[in-house]
Amino acid sequence: MKRILYLSHYSYDWQVDELQNLADVAATKNRELSITGILITFDLLFFQIIEGPENNINNLFKKICKDNRHCEISIIQCEENVQTRLFEDWHMKIFNLDSNPDALEYSIKILLRSLIKTYKIIGRYNHSGILRKIKAGINPAEIAPRRVKKIVMFADIVGFSKISEKNPIEKVVEIISRFFENVTLAVENQNGEVEKFIGDCVMASFSATNPAKAINAVIDILRRTSEIFIPASAGGSAQKISCGIGMAIGSTIEGNVGSGTRMDYTILGDVVNTAQRLEQLTRSLPFSLAITSELKDAIAEDFTCVKMGTYDLKGKQNSVEIFSVDLPETRKPTA
Ligand SMILES: Cc1cc2nc3c(=O)[nH]c(=O)nc-3n(C[C@H](O)[C@H](O)[C@H](O)COP(=O)(O)O)c2cc1C
Repeated sequence: MKRILYLSHYSYDWQVDELQNLADVAATKNRELSITGILITFDLLFFQIIEGPENNINNLFKKICKDNRHCEISIIQCEENVQTRLFEDWHMKIFNLDSNPDALEYSIKILLRSLIKTYKIIGRYNHSGILRKIKAGINPAEIAPRRVKKIVMFADIVGFSKISEKNPIEKVVEIISRFFENVTLAVENQNGEVEKFIGDCVMASFSATNPAKAINAVIDILRRTSEIFIPASAGGSAQKISCGIGMAIGSTIEGNVGSGTRMDYTILGDVVNTAQRLEQLTRSLPFSLAITSELKDAIAEDFTCVKMGTYDLKGKQNSVEIFSVDLPETRKPTA
């Protein structure tokens, strides 16, 4: 059996009799399909648990997702191979916590309200992969470490220290937030994952199976960053910002690291260090992107690369050949 817990928002102001009607119709249909569960509603929100045979739950959830009477559906948890039901006798029992002054139900409402708030906050602060795992019913803390081939990217705003010295904090926070927002969009549009924000730098990873996607994300990041301006201060003129990007491909260790009180689900390894060093190297290159020769080979069918030279990178015994992708977006404007 399968069980799904989800949360959604009303699309319009449901009346009490409409809610009861929804639950009655749902209960009749669910009984035929051996589905049980509860529907809790309060504060213009639905919190529903549905459980039953896997296929029936999948079909019902597809219908529920298409139902335009509610929106912003987000799965809180999805459990597979469920052995016992939580709601053996309820085919769809509704609890309207807004219309019930009962102390216990009022307490549940307060509890759920704070849980939802915390869940949304954690979702914004956390690695999106972690949230996906929680939604799929997997406890991220229990995932064993694994080796996985990945493309790692570091993207950093050029001259950020100066920008932060010269501008008021609100402006600095606005600039960096726009940069992070744009990088996140560009990375996620190409199925990449933002691993973390480190100061003014974004660390992201992409699957090694489709390296062209990682380069497409870089092109998008450079395009979007060129559209971010630091607004003019008194007497001055608006200033463009730019970023440097380093990328490397290779074996990484993916897993949980941390202490008993603070965990991080991240990727580690030489590839990560190399990508970071390459990002720093772009400061002295005529291109905003620096990649390793392994990544150059991986994208050879889709992109033309140019050699930047041979460099000693901190932590590497031998000097390494560095390349960039030859595109208008990756070339730094000549002064
Ligand atoms: C919050 C919410 C919960 C719902 N729960 C159920 C449910 O448990 N069972 C059900 O059959 N339909 C439920 N529905 C209705 C479905 O979205 C959909 O309208 C219905 O399954 C259509 O059935 P039909 O395709 O057989 O006409 C729910 C709708 C909403 C908005």
